[in-house]
Amino acid sequence: MITLGIETSCDETSCAVLKDRDTLLSNIVSSSLKKHALYGGVVPEIASRQCLEAMDSVYETALNQAKITAKEIDLIAVTRGPGLIGSLLVGMAFAKGLSYNLGIPLVGVNHLEAHLDGCFIDNVKPKKPFIGLLVSGGHSSLVYCENGNYELLGQTVDDAVGEAYDKVGKLLGLPYPGGPVIDRLAREGNPAAAGIRFTKPKQDGKYDFSFSGIKTAAFYFLRERNLTDQETKDFCAAFQNAVVAWIVEKTFAACEGKQCGIVAVGGGVSANSLLRARLAEEAKKRKVKIYIPEFKYTTDNAAMIARNGIDRYKQSGASGLDLTATPNLKIGLG
Ligand code: KG4
Ligand code: ZN
Repeated sequence: MITLGIETSCDETSCAVLKDRDTLLSNIVSSSLKKHALYGGVVPEIASRQCLEAMDSVYETALNQAKITAKEIDLIAVTRGPGLIGSLLVGMAFAKGLSYNLGIPLVGVNHLEAHLDGCFIDNVKPKKPFIGLLVSGGHSSLVYCENGNYELLGQTVDDAVGEAYDKVGKLLGLPYPGGPVIDRLAREGNPAAAGIRFTKPKQDGKYDFSFSGIKTAAFYFLRERNLTDQETKDFCAAFQNAVVAWIVEKTFAACEGKQCGIVAVGGGVSANSLLRARLAEEAKKRKVKIYIPEFKYTTDNAAMIARNGIDRYKQSGASGLDLTATPNLKIGLG
């Protein structure tokens, strides 16, 4: 069975060809991130126009690289939300047109749920329930995944973790997106020398996150100082240490709370070097099986959409052509 995945939820346009559940034949990603860097954040209008421009050629390249023709596609999986409405509509319209034209089923995919499948493109997905840790630019959540159903355990009550990284990056005068830059600088910094200690946020929800306090603390600290290069690195290390420690703590608290010995991680921030290392370390200590996606599957890509789409299709069947793009789609709603 051949599934074509289509992803256009934000600034990436991606198509992937997946054979059955485990053989990825191609995964083409075109990003407009550099264009947004000029403005210090994603500009929705630019993102959607870029998706429209890239869509045809990304699709054709994905088919060529997979060495298949359109007639060999059996299923189309497309991101239906959450995301930017203009970008989502590009992929959805393309997917519907193709589905109608080729007479093959279409399945709408929840982008957040698909992120957690990024680690199951090259690994067999466990049959047992697992805790999903989703950390991206727009979302930070912990979910309990069982038989294709997603129970939301907790989420950020304010900023998403990637958003906090990007905002603190901006305060430091770093290029957008700040996440990967802070990660790189933090590796050369000494958190103990930073002269700032970030206090742990308090939330009512056991598994909820909060990152706006740390951002405010960073704002007040940086407002009064002009950091040297080394001080910037030390600051990044202190910030990163604090954020990662909170995420790791909550993740394994969820494992304990749900008595679950498997964790799957997804989203752009899962590319973070310290988060990957600390999660792996802690999992080993606690004898928890952890799945961390390969770098190429951490950011938005259609391989994860195809991987999620095939399971969703087998479980719930096809979506109709009246499928709508849902910009604020929540996790757990398929
Ligand atoms: O999942 P994603 O590609 O897009 C959303 O759906 O939001 O995540 C993008 C986010 C950005 O905020 C970016 O700064 C962050 O992921 N990010 C990182 C790293 N690489 C990307 N944050 C921390 N460390 C990284 N290495
Ligand atoms: Zn994403």
